[in-house]
Amino acid sequence: VAPQLIDAFNREHDYLRISLTEKCNLRCFYCMPEDGVELSPPQQLLTDDEVVHLAELFVRAGVRKLRLTGGEPTVRRNIVELVGRLSGLRDLGLQSIGMTSNGLALHRKLPDLVENGLTHLNLSLDTLDQFKFELITRRRGHDAVVKSLDTALSLPGLQSVKLNVVVVKGLNDSEVFDFVEMTKERPLSVRFIEFMPFTGNKWDKAKMVPSGDLLHRIASRYPNVRKAEDSLNDTARSYEIPGHRGSIAFISSMSDHFCGTCNRLRITADGNIKVCLFGPNEVSLRDALRSGATEEELMGLIGMAVGRKKARHAGPIFSPSPRRLCPPSRLLIPTFP
Ligand code: GTP
Ligand code: 5AD
Ligand code: SF4
Repeated sequence: VAPQLIDAFNREHDYLRISLTEKCNLRCFYCMPEDGVELSPPQQLLTDDEVVHLAELFVRAGVRKLRLTGGEPTVRRNIVELVGRLSGLRDLGLQSIGMTSNGLALHRKLPDLVENGLTHLNLSLDTLDQFKFELITRRRGHDAVVKSLDTALSLPGLQSVKLNVVVVKGLNDSEVFDFVEMTKERPLSVRFIEFMPFTGNKWDKAKMVPSGDLLHRIASRYPNVRKAEDSLNDTARSYEIPGHRGSIAFISSMSDHFCGTCNRLRITADGNIKVCLFGPNEVSLRDALRSGATEEELMGLIGMAVGRKKARHAGPIFSPSPRRLCPPSRLLIPTFP
């Protein structure tokens, strides 16, 4: 990768997450306040042309993996066309285009998205129970999400389908075995995510289930569960159960952070670059673009932002980040205990 994408700790950043919207069609209690979040005026959001322009710049500099996030990326207008345009960056070395979606408005668009170049899908679904779904997301639509999952699994063009399950004690941890069972017949990676604290999201240490405990519980029912291989920059640690087509994994942001191998950069929907999920906005690439900055100037700004990246997230004290970018950072102030 270009030197501008290598930080002071020699981490090479070849994975760019682009937030396409601040809006979401669900209101998961752990992520968004009931009334939603304050939205930027539309003219401050990146246009499709700007998204493609910035993505191209990053791909030329060595980014190999894009992930589209939100808010909920499928609520962006022209999402299919946008994916198609980004897919053109394959000629410059881009290897994959992923999306993280809540699946509510996805199943109809999914075949076209895949046709246009979407290669990886991470779907968020915390419960298999409709009533609990409404409790968690404050909206209806459980069956729509399940339909999206079924559609995703039926599309050969998708190279991977992962299910994100945020585990909250007393709420959905009783469903862990049901989720594990889903991997028996489906080529699906179910990822159990530790509940993380963000201001106002009712986080409570007692509600967090450490991945180690969960693995222990799973091993009591599936004694053959064994470690699977992860790639170097994975945030998830995967396990397989002999005889299951899919796999399970744990994302242990709380009990075991993975900053040492971090390869991620982020662009917010309003065009700021963030070098860490828990860090502040660094600089507005949108403003630079709109004031006619050259590619060199843009790369200079990016290089300076990457150069400021810390070795790891700040532990107990985080500085407020002024604007959300994508789940789960779209809530304003990460507040580790
Ligand atoms: P893959 O490309 O499939 O590995 O996606 P991902 O797991 O990085 O992305 P996704 O959007 O599915 O996020 C799932 C969970 O990963 C989130 O709930 C976060 O807990 C965690 N996560 C994603 N990116 C970061 C990050 O940069 N830092 C930390 N600490 N956690 C992250
Ligand atoms: N803790 C853990 N995961 C979270 N997500 C959103 N907020 C939180 C939180 N507080 C998850 C979403 C989605 C992924 C991108 O981040 O469920 O699957
Ligand atoms: Fe990377 Fe920051 Fe996430 Fe750690 S917290 S893995 S440094 S983005």
